[in-house]
Amino acid sequence: MPTAVTKPRLTTEDDITAEVLRRFEGTEDPRLKQIMQSLVKHVHAFLKEVQLQEAEWWQGIEFLTRTGQMCDARRQEFILLSDTLGISMVTDLISNRRPAGATESTVFGPFHRDGAPEREYGDSIVAADRHGMIAYFYGRVLDLHGKPIARAELDVWQAAADGLYDAQDLSLIEMNMRGKFKTGPDGRYLVKTTRPVAYQIPADGPVGELLAATNRHPWRPAHVHFAVSAPGFWPVTTHVFDSIDQYLNEDAVFGVKNSLIAEFKEHQTRDEAALKFNAEPPFCTCEFDFVLAPAQ
Ligand code: BEZ
Ligand code: FE
Repeated sequence: MPTAVTKPRLTTEDDITAEVLRRFEGTEDPRLKQIMQSLVKHVHAFLKEVQLQEAEWWQGIEFLTRTGQMCDARRQEFILLSDTLGISMVTDLISNRRPAGATESTVFGPFHRDGAPEREYGDSIVAADRHGMIAYFYGRVLDLHGKPIARAELDVWQAAADGLYDAQDLSLIEMNMRGKFKTGPDGRYLVKTTRPVAYQIPADGPVGELLAATNRHPWRPAHVHFAVSAPGFWPVTTHVFDSIDQYLNEDAVFGVKNSLIAEFKEHQTRDEAALKFNAEPPFCTCEFDFVLAPAQ
């Protein structure tokens, strides 16, 4: 009769960790192997550090389940979770290192939509029945040497003056506050919009519960989103923030970078800018140049 080989049993927490890591040893894709083994190492270290109890783990499973159940074409609760935990911004910083002088990127967020309408220089992205101070957002798209980039694309999206994106407000026309603009031969763009306002990220789901339970607020400082691209250059996904916003130092999703803060100048009279933009006061203007780094 063959004798059964007695294998040592996994008896301690550290035995389990070591065995899980061993089971990933055969992963063929080296990057997947690195990611999975590191994930296991850090998650197990976290469990041991906080001495996680079973009831707390069930609570976590239930939280993640509800986070998934909240997601649909208009709502992405997992992106919100990633954003509010700072995961999106750490990943952004690691992934988008560009040469000095190039426009910095920031968090993508859950409200971009593919298929925004193509707009002409100076077109408005504001629905006719919406309020808010009109803003003329203008500037150039440049290379690292300051040379204008013609035919660069600027995909713009923004919350309306009530702080809601079109995906959050079914009364809004399709693709409100969105558009794809192209620069002219001089690299210039002009977008007619409204002055952005600070708004709360959606807080009526699991992520909102987590913010409330941890005494955190859901506010983001006023901003306009831009995804700027041109053939031969690294695209950049970013925001421009209003320099007078009260939440610049405590953005709920950690997205503010100093180089992305710009002044929105208010114009109360028929001044030079009113003539230039054919604008009725009061309105405001914001000038911002985007700089793209060459693709390698
Ligand atoms: C946004 O700016 O649209 C956004 C970013 C992160 C979370 C929620 C909203
Ligand atoms: Fe936003």
